[in-house]
Amino acid sequence: MANYLQDQRKVTTHRLAEMKQRGEKIAMLTAYDYSMARLIDEAGMDVILVGDSASNVMAGNMTTLPMTLDQMIYHAKSVVKGVKRALVVCDLPFGSYQGNSKEALASAVRIMKESHAEAVKMEGGSEIRESIERVLCAGIPVMGHLGLTPQSINKFGTYAVRAKEEAEANKLIEDARMLEEIGCFALVLEKIPATLASQVAKEVNIPVIGIGAGGGVDGQVLVMHDMLGINKGFSPRFLRRYADLSTIINDAVAHYIDDVKTSDFPNEKEQY
Ligand code: KIV
Repeated sequence: MANYLQDQRKVTTHRLAEMKQRGEKIAMLTAYDYSMARLIDEAGMDVILVGDSASNVMAGNMTTLPMTLDQMIYHAKSVVKGVKRALVVCDLPFGSYQGNSKEALASAVRIMKESHAEAVKMEGGSEIRESIERVLCAGIPVMGHLGLTPQSINKFGTYAVRAKEEAEANKLIEDARMLEEIGCFALVLEKIPATLASQVAKEVNIPVIGIGAGGGVDGQVLVMHDMLGINKGFSPRFLRRYADLSTIINDAVAHYIDDVKTSDFPNEKEQY
């Protein structure tokens, strides 16, 4: 395995643009707390996303909608403390930016001031253009997010692949161009056909990070709990599991319970 930590410089939005230009893939993963963020950063991750998927994997909700701005700031603050190198991006949660650009700016400013994250991510295209523009005007880098946008799950009605039909695919391409034009530094494409995603990555100059969008994009993002096998109930086709932490944790905890019950723990060396 290559060592991607040789370059110790802080990852910035500019460095991500350079990575796209020289064809170097961008690795992005979610994190929600200090300890995991530190491990992920030390492994050489380029971008750490404080995703509102915290709603699912940290809080146990069915959707991302219940997440509040205060909760996102709490998670982002913890992550930032553990990170030295990766760019930290924080999701603006549902209801904190749609439809009201002043509120969008106020929400983004709170994230930047209170958590020290370095960028925000916002779901949607032309519908939220004004909100994105206002956030960008304040000098806050924005990562776009198109395709399956989980904050709109009640409109979609399903987590199935998006933009399979021509009309939706055309709108997605237009939205991607618009996000580039107004100044977003990168774009996440979630769960869309691989051919469409790779077309978008060729058409825009900003880095395109995919999740369930095939290999023809500029980088990949996964939810940490899914790829580490903590969250075993979720197995979409696009997910590759890099560890089986749920088995490791279950075994370790069962072992500890057994040691306590049989008075094996603590032994003489483990006491004062
Ligand atoms: O909230 C999240 O984890 C995300 C990723 C799936 C891109 O938005």
